[in-house]
Amino acid sequence: MSEFFDGQAVNSAFECAMAGVLFRNLRHLTPPFGPGDIDLFGERGRSPIEAIWVEKGQIRWIGPDRKIPKECRVLREISLEGRTVLPGFVECHTHTVFAGSRSQEFSWRLAGQPYTEIYKKGGGILSTVRAVRAASLGQLAASAQKSVDGFVRQGVTTLEIKSGYGLDEKSELKLLKAIQSLAGPEIVSTYLGLHGLAPEFSTTDEYVDHVIASTLPKLKKTGLAKRCDIYIEKGFFSLEQGERFLRACHALDLAVVIHADQIHRTGATSLGARLSAMSCDHVIHVNDEDIRCLAASSTVAVLLPMADLYMKCAYPPARKMLDAGVRVALATDFNPGTCPSQDLSLVGLLARLEMKMTLEEVIEAYTMGAAHALGLEARKGQLKVGFDADFVVLEGNPSELFYSAGRMPVYRVYRGGVQLG
Ligand code: NIG
Ligand code: FE
Repeated sequence: MSEFFDGQAVNSAFECAMAGVLFRNLRHLTPPFGPGDIDLFGERGRSPIEAIWVEKGQIRWIGPDRKIPKECRVLREISLEGRTVLPGFVECHTHTVFAGSRSQEFSWRLAGQPYTEIYKKGGGILSTVRAVRAASLGQLAASAQKSVDGFVRQGVTTLEIKSGYGLDEKSELKLLKAIQSLAGPEIVSTYLGLHGLAPEFSTTDEYVDHVIASTLPKLKKTGLAKRCDIYIEKGFFSLEQGERFLRACHALDLAVVIHADQIHRTGATSLGARLSAMSCDHVIHVNDEDIRCLAASSTVAVLLPMADLYMKCAYPPARKMLDAGVRVALATDFNPGTCPSQDLSLVGLLARLEMKMTLEEVIEAYTMGAAHALGLEARKGQLKVGFDADFVVLEGNPSELFYSAGRMPVYRVYRGGVQLG
């Protein structure tokens, strides 16, 4: 493609988006929603917003066709032919970089072996650790890129990926470098060294001490991740170790998220909310006090119902949380153990079927809520002037979203105004 703009040759979609593009002929749907908003967008419903002007990757102007600014006359135009546009999905909790498969372990779990027992015997997370340590950075990145492309096809424009299958410093850094090399959506990396006990250490206390004293300062120096995660769970890391880790991260100005109250109630959700964790994830075994703590904090509850389906456990009390004023996000938790699926449609479908969330709440959780969980709420998750021009163009009516398992009705995906898929 070669077009002329402002006396300069514009040679690529990227350069066009930098110079300016006007998206026209669209219907617009962006959170926060009121109840029943999506019904306004029936086949003949009129959207108050019909055009989006993108410049330098950001939304410069947004509004009805009759109010398009004069300067836009010279811009390249893309007609979206009446389709609905909504903010790109923000997938805020994944373990996308790994090696090997745990399909065998799935059969063991179905035959009655508990997840924590399999780990105790050196399986589970630890079997993925062995496969990751044996793989090269290039192999890890190549296989993860395919999964990343799979997320993009579903409308994901921002993707969080955790390390956590290396455990020792060298392998964790290898994972973080692999994460950094991935292309397509905006990638947010999270260091999850405290995912399990590194085989080099005999106690979790020694390992936590080592991570705090040695790995966190290195992480800070390399800048490979600005967020850290910990798995607080019976048989993994304790609440006390979690608090020590969280305080050490904050002392280095690293943000914290927690795998909290997934299999047992440990009190990790209340701890996270009290100490300003960015998010507490899973949050299944929480009581009313935990929910009150979350509601009074800026911590986001990240709900992962597809992992709950695979683990055959309870779903988190989403309705209670939403009614109490907790900010909620949804994500896949894609990983080889507890959720070997990347299917956003099933996540939203489970939230609607099993967690009493409305379609509006599901979309909001997967855009604005998830942007909050990653601390990106000032530029992601909504279509507003000054925000990143990350959006999904839908095929058909928005009510088709999170309705049919295995199908995301996505026509096109744009990140910074540049088409990804
Ligand atoms: O979010 N439970 C801790 N971490 C992941 C599972 C990792 C694994 O089993 O490989 C989770 O469920
Ligand atoms: Fe997880």
